[in-house]
Amino acid sequence: MQRPRVLSGVQPTGALHLGNWLGAIRNWVDLQSSHDTFVCVVDLHAITVPHDPTRLVDDTRTTAALYLACGMDPAQCSVFVQSDIAAHSELCWLLNCITPLNWLERMIQFKEKATKQGDNVSVGLLDYPVLMAADILLYDADLVPVGEDQKQHLELARDIAQQRINARFGHDNKPILKVPEPMILKEGARVMSLTDGRSKMSKSDPNEASRITLLDPPELITKKIKRAKTDPERGLEFNNPDRPETDNLLGLYAILSGRGRDAVAKECAEMGWGQFKPLLTEATVEALKPIQARHQELMADPSELDQVLAAGRDRAQTVASATLERVRTAMGFSART
Ligand code: TYM
Repeated sequence: MQRPRVLSGVQPTGALHLGNWLGAIRNWVDLQSSHDTFVCVVDLHAITVPHDPTRLVDDTRTTAALYLACGMDPAQCSVFVQSDIAAHSELCWLLNCITPLNWLERMIQFKEKATKQGDNVSVGLLDYPVLMAADILLYDADLVPVGEDQKQHLELARDIAQQRINARFGHDNKPILKVPEPMILKEGARVMSLTDGRSKMSKSDPNEASRITLLDPPELITKKIKRAKTDPERGLEFNNPDRPETDNLLGLYAILSGRGRDAVAKECAEMGWGQFKPLLTEATVEALKPIQARHQELMADPSELDQVLAAGRDRAQTVASATLERVRTAMGFSART
């Protein structure tokens, strides 16, 4: 029997941070043994904001290496680069022509990024959720494990599949595209900035002190946690809406130490920041140590990563071509021979 399919990805824009790992990649790692898992480095998404062309290839490879270093096992899953599969761009175009403009104009991420960028917003930034829908729908994904911030994009992908493709072009109740379900973890789905507990940790925050990247050396992690915003109260607790930084740092400690929320809530109930921050620092450094060591190994010898990406590309190509052909036929194009 075919295992349920998973598809997800991360943009290779700057170094991956704790949010990407704890909100998304960690979940992929857990799913790969029970699901037919495809994960891609979404490099076509990385050019929707101004980018440095001299870094794109390196950033793409380092992101793929981090997938493996975090525990993605090429014997169990397919790892590939989005732009290696031309079907992503082609399906995106087909979906563009049936997606209402106002569905895209109301996307929260578009509005936020467009406000930051001012006049320079590209058509690609507006169209980004349609490309993301193409990424997902091409693989007939059952589940899409992502952080909380991608929920609206997932809903759009579902609406495009259901209302715009299946309802309009399907016959005899036979769907053309599978309608995917988001999978959002309870813990880690929204890791917040170290400098502001009310905004999420993000690659695009100009302040590097706001995030811990998976490749930060121990000294830098120590410095960032030392400077992380706190509050003057003694005793650390979860779920106090007036103490968002406390909730976030405690939540990180619970996951990174592997101790869980209940144990951590008890352990830290009477603690001050001077005692807590070194504990969080140690848990973070220890959790990242094996990831950093494996990443270094993979980057030192490019051949292993080359092989993994070539095998992933071939598997992705087979699935993506078949889906694209189905959509092309349904929309009235003649079969490619
Ligand atoms: P991106 O590259 O911004 O983030 C990659 C993944 O990390 C999650 N994430 C977070 N989770 C918890 N806390 C945070 N602070 C945090 N920041 C990011 C994101 O939710 C995401 O799961 N559009 C997507 C990439 C994409 C994609 C796809 C994802 C393109 N095509 C198809 C899934 C399926 C994005 O920009 O993610």
